[in-house]
Amino acid sequence: MAFELAPLPYAYDALAPYTSAETLEYHHDKHHAAYVTNLNNLIKGTEFESMSLEEVIKASAGKNVPVFNNAAQHWNHHHFWLWQKKGGGGTKVPGKIQTLIDRDLGGYDKFRADFIQAGMTQFGSGWAWLVFKDGKLSITKTSNAENPMTQGATPILTADVWEHGYYIDYRNLRLKFLEAFVDHLLNWDYVLECYEAAA
Ligand code: FE2
Repeated sequence: MAFELAPLPYAYDALAPYTSAETLEYHHDKHHAAYVTNLNNLIKGTEFESMSLEEVIKASAGKNVPVFNNAAQHWNHHHFWLWQKKGGGGTKVPGKIQTLIDRDLGGYDKFRADFIQAGMTQFGSGWAWLVFKDGKLSITKTSNAENPMTQGATPILTADVWEHGYYIDYRNLRLKFLEAFVDHLLNWDYVLECYEAAA
């Protein structure tokens, strides 16, 4: 069965001024859409066609680079949209997640600094992540399409640091984009939902 591009879970202008409608039109309708189209073309008539998206990612990792890249980019973007919302971000952290951030990551301020730092130190294209693995939260980063699920971790938050995600609004200032993401866009409710599904 072919994979589908879900509509954005909010209006194109919902994340403005932190992410513009123009960015979302390009990022969702062009970049994300292309990954889905490419993935469907690549898996037609192969063993991947009958798998879930997560199964395709795990089965193609290290074995089929084009399928992996497009499948992982589809997953990463699909959830990246859900990990943002209008009026999100900041310290409105659900109690259960706050407790884990305090226990595993040294508190909110250190989480914020370390998550932004992960995005800043990802050289070139990639993703900053908050993951749940072996009963603990940790912050990590990956390059290109890589997803921590191939390392046995469950992603519960990501920020896209490919230039296509911020260049229209922030030009070269990745730091400004990451600060806006954490302070104004981050959807903590979906972080909690993903954590509860994994825990
Ligand atoms: Fe992207």
